[in-house]
Amino acid sequence: MFKVLEARDLADGIKFIEIHAPEVAGAANAGQFVILRIDEFGERFPLTIYDFDRKAGSVSMVFLEVGTSTRKLGSLKAGDSILDFLGPLGHPFNVKEYGKVACVGGGVGTPAIHSIAKELKASGNHVTSIIGARTKDLLILEEEMKAVSDELIAATDDGSYGVKGFVTTVLGGMLDELDLVVAVGPLPMMKAVANLTRGRVKTIVSLNPIMVDGTGMCGGCRVTVAGKTKFTCVDGPDFDAHEVDFDELMERNRTYLSEEEESHTCRIGLDDA
Ligand code: NAD
Ligand code: FES
Repeated sequence: MFKVLEARDLADGIKFIEIHAPEVAGAANAGQFVILRIDEFGERFPLTIYDFDRKAGSVSMVFLEVGTSTRKLGSLKAGDSILDFLGPLGHPFNVKEYGKVACVGGGVGTPAIHSIAKELKASGNHVTSIIGARTKDLLILEEEMKAVSDELIAATDDGSYGVKGFVTTVLGGMLDELDLVVAVGPLPMMKAVANLTRGRVKTIVSLNPIMVDGTGMCGGCRVTVAGKTKFTCVDGPDFDAHEVDFDELMERNRTYLSEEEESHTCRIGLDDA
């Protein structure tokens, strides 16, 4: 069993949870994910690692309550336990010196960019983080992202806080200064970022397809990258944004939408369980 060390609300339906899992924390690196199961009746579902503390032996995640499993996870309190906590899974982000980097986080994709920004800054890169949300109340982790960035720019779709517009509104104004863009968020956002930077700045995205086993067995997380089939769980989750077939991935992610709406239990996608 893995003990919950801390659990709290960040915004409406968006939760933070810290789990005591020394072996996972000891091996974790930026950009990886875990698969967890709350109890013997629950499904397995993946969550991107938000942060980890090797000394404390803890791993934390931030997630949106969208289905039965994430709601159940969101109801846990400090002192409760979960049954399975498997990880770290996926390749770590390739942290090295790139120069000037923009880390772009859209909505609940922002937590997934946190550890990447932190490691990139620690490795000598100049990190500008751009975080976006539909409205001020949904903008999360501003202080935490500030702490791991040289500069932080917030944007809201409705202009209730920061720059009015999408994260791409902000990114578009700084492309000439950048050596790398890293983007995590909804697929339309990552596609828009890829279209904006194509031919101008190298861009990496962290993908979130439907996942079941997380170990390369089921094929549920397949994605076409540079015309070849890749499994996000074992080949990714990071890929060159300019080589990803976003339209196919968006279509695949819609596969279980009707079942999800009916039961809130069928969809097993990264951060969407
Ligand atoms: P959202 O729809 O509220 O969008 C968040 C922000 O993304 C917007 O404020 C805007 O700045 C930007 N954005 C959205 N659509 C855009 C477009 N067409 N062009 C340019 N920018 C756009 O997002 P949400 O409801 O918080 O959902 C977040 C998504 O992130 C979920 O779909 C989830 O699957 C995904 N996610 C991915 C990962 C991962 O890849 N590791 C982790 C967590 C969440
Ligand atoms: Fe099954 Fe990737 S989740 S192959």
